[in-house]
Amino acid sequence: METAFNKPKFSWQEYFSDKKKGGHRYSTEEFLFKEAREKLFHLRGGRSLLDFGCGAGELLIYYVPNYERIVGADFSSSMLFEAEKKMWQQNYKNVDLILADDETIWEKLSLPFDRITATAVVQYLTPQQIDAFIRHASEYLNEDGKIVFFDIIDPRLYSLWKMGWFSQNFKLWKTLPKTGFGLLRQTSAILKNRPRDIIGDAYSPYFIEQIAIDNGFKMEYVKSMYYEYRYHAILSRN
Ligand SMILES: C[S@@+](CC[C@H](N)C(=O)[O-])C[C@H]1O[C@@H](n2cnc3c(N)ncnc32)[C@H](O)[C@@H]1O
Repeated sequence: METAFNKPKFSWQEYFSDKKKGGHRYSTEEFLFKEAREKLFHLRGGRSLLDFGCGAGELLIYYVPNYERIVGADFSSSMLFEAEKKMWQQNYKNVDLILADDETIWEKLSLPFDRITATAVVQYLTPQQIDAFIRHASEYLNEDGKIVFFDIIDPRLYSLWKMGWFSQNFKLWKTLPKTGFGLLRQTSAILKNRPRDIIGDAYSPYFIEQIAIDNGFKMEYVKSMYYEYRYHAILSRN
């Protein structure tokens, strides 16, 4: 009999196995174009780019014309299929799409990159996976290269956002029932062996910076333009 204690372990790979969109705030081309433009500004050039966890290619499609060589990687075949359709439609020839996760991707790469990026992916990695990712990425990064993690969830801002702090008609007393329901939802998720929050894990900028420093990088913190509770971490070598 299946109980709360013997439920199979939750897997993000399984969760994403049939997804077709990256969960952007709006899925209109106008919004995605603006998001991509912000990201391209922070990527600050380079000629080759690896977009890890590229999903359905919603941002990747805007990166392609700006790079000579692009690789998109994701562990979800349904997401990659959507990305592939977008690349076909535009007849882009400088893109490789690879089905891989944060461990297997490295053995599938042959050349290093000027930029290695990941948008809204860090939240699905454990601290050990983030550390290993930076370590491996460092080996596949050209000398002046950068690792750019976009839209990491900031735990402090996320709590405020969930309470409605950033909404126009924020009232403290209205947050109490929400907070109560939130706690109930979290307890139920733990009992069902699911993550506490389906959006993934939040990591403070100081935590990510420490992992960056341990791997020989310095980190620039940038507030996300389109998500109040997220930030970008731009890593370059010391
Ligand atoms: C929220 S979506 C964002 C997709 C894309 N970066 C974008 O902004 O449109 C997160 C993506 O990361 C992928 N992902 C999460 N963890 C991964 C891992 N360990 N290895 C490979 N892909 C992963 C998921 O399959 C999903 O496509």
